[in-house]
Order: sequence, then structure tokens, then C-alpha cells
Amino acid sequence: MNSPFFSTASGWTIDGHTRLLGIIGDPVSHSLSPAMHNLAFLALGLNLRYLAFHVKPERLEEAVRGFAAQGMVGFNATIPHKEALVGLMDRLDDQVALLGAVNTVAIDSQGGLRGYNTDVHGFHAALEQAFPGRLQGARAVVLGAGGAARAVVAGLVAGGVTSITVANRTAERGQKLLEELAPALGQVTCRGVPLTAERIPLEECELLVNTTSMGLHGEPISGVDVSRLPKEAVVNDIVYSPPVTPLMQAALTRGLGVLNGLDMLIHQGAQAFRIWTGREMPIPLIKAHLDGLAAKA
Ligand code: ATR
Repeated sequence: MNSPFFSTASGWTIDGHTRLLGIIGDPVSHSLSPAMHNLAFLALGLNLRYLAFHVKPERLEEAVRGFAAQGMVGFNATIPHKEALVGLMDRLDDQVALLGAVNTVAIDSQGGLRGYNTDVHGFHAALEQAFPGRLQGARAVVLGAGGAARAVVAGLVAGGVTSITVANRTAERGQKLLEELAPALGQVTCRGVPLTAERIPLEECELLVNTTSMGLHGEPISGVDVSRLPKEAVVNDIVYSPPVTPLMQAALTRGLGVLNGLDMLIHQGAQAFRIWTGREMPIPLIKAHLDGLAAKA
């Protein structure tokens, strides 16, 4: 029997067969992933639901064991859990071992946990879709050297860039990132530099990617003057709220190509969706919905 509390006019019911997925983070309430995955489940008629779980770092293991014990399908992780999750997995996808960060977990019927990193695919697929062929042979500058920068560097290598400069406030962290990712860098020329105007090679950069949290609140990024970029350069800020960051605004004013982080979010989610369900997420539908939500956030 359908209770009015558990069904909708569209027939989207919760019943004894409904299975659960979710995202863990601290904080997590800002996440667009529940809206993205639930809309995709609804569109494809899948009896799955996706919730946001606020999990503190000290209770991560307990939360993960509980998810496995309950027979959840899987979950995503956001800040600050991506690195700590690696040690809790039974199996790791190849890319994860190198990146040292898990953002997607699939739980098998025995409760076994397999960790993936779909941010690499998300970054690469978003740029390829927005600017086809631009990654191939490009010289890239990455601002920041945290967890997000690792996935971006791996995505740039997958896209065929020829050089990567990692510019970070703490320059040693950029160098450490490149040393740790060295087995995956192949023939790509890489270096780490401090985040200062003299050291960032903007004149020789066709692709500038901001992975730092600067710009989230309207502050400019010191040392980064987009007027130094070549006129064919593309600027990608992996932030999606606000939809146009000050860095992107400066690039737009110069007539450069820009991309925010929403497409990366959607493509990493689409890859996670594929892992969990074996189905394709309806990306245009999801994008239209999330564009509206991100603009309001
Ligand atoms: P994430 O996993 O999202 O990448 P993170 O690991 O905390 O988060 O990394 C944040 C990045 O933003 C780092 O590169 C950080 O620089 P440091 O390594 O020097 O800490 C950068 N960052 C944050 N706030 C910054 C600021 N005010 N100025 C410059 N860089 C900043």
C-alpha cells in the first residue's frame, strides 16, 4: 500500500526494496550530490535513494562499517574524508593507490568495500566536453596542491598536456605532490613553484586551473594576473558556487574561455553512477537542474 507520506504523484515510492546510497562529509549540507543522484534515479525509475550524512572524522570508520553492514549500494566522500577512506577499503581501483584519495565507494553483496576516484574522470570529461581537443599538447598551470589538485594533475596527464606547473602558497607541497604522482606523469614536464607573480609562467599557459579555495568569497588570487595569459587560454575554476568566480570574471572580461566546477561535479557523479548502477546518468537533465540550484546557492 502506498502511504501518502512515502509516495509521490509520479509514483516515486520508498518500499521494502528501496536501497540506499549517500555522501559523507564534514560539512556536507551544501552538497549538490543528493539532488543530482536522486533526480537521476527518478528519471531512470531506479528504486534507489541518496542522502547526505554528516560524519565527523573521528567517527568515519564506524560510519563506513555501518554502511557496509546495512547493505548500502555505495557512497561518495567529500572533505575531509577522501584520504582517510583509502585505509578502510578492501580493494582499490588502480588510480586510487596513486592519488591517495577515494571519493566513491562501491559495497558488494558481502559488504566488501571497493574504493574509486572519479574526480580524475570528472575533471577530464568536463574540459573535453566544453573545449574539445584543448588539453592535447597544452601547457597547464594548476593553482593549489591539495587533494583536488591531485585529481586535476592526473586528469591533465590523461588529457595529453605537455607541461604542468603547480603553483602553491606552500611551494614544497606542490613539489611533494609531483614527486608522489611521478609514476603517473610519463613524459609530461612538471614543476612546483610558489604562488608569486614572478614564478607562475602565465605567458606560456594555455590552461589555467584553480583548485584553491581562494575566490570562493570574492577575493582575488594574489600573483595571478589573467592579462598575462595568451588570448587562446582557457581558465577553469573548479569551484561552482559562485558560478562565476573573480578569476573567471577577469578571464571573461579579457574574452578568454572559462569553465566552473559544475561540469566536473556532474561528470564525477556520472562515473560513480555508472559504477553503482551500470547505467548512464542523464547528463543534460541533471545539468539543467543543477545550474538552477548552483545559481541560487
Ligand atoms: P582540497 O582537497 O579541496 O584541495 P586542501 O587539501 O585543503 O583542499 O587544499 C587547499 C589548497 O588551497 C592548498 O593548495 C592551499 O595552499 P597551502 O598548501 O599553501 O595550504 C590552498 N589555499 C587555501 N587558502 C589559501 C589562501 N588564502 N591563499 C593561497 N592558497 C590557499
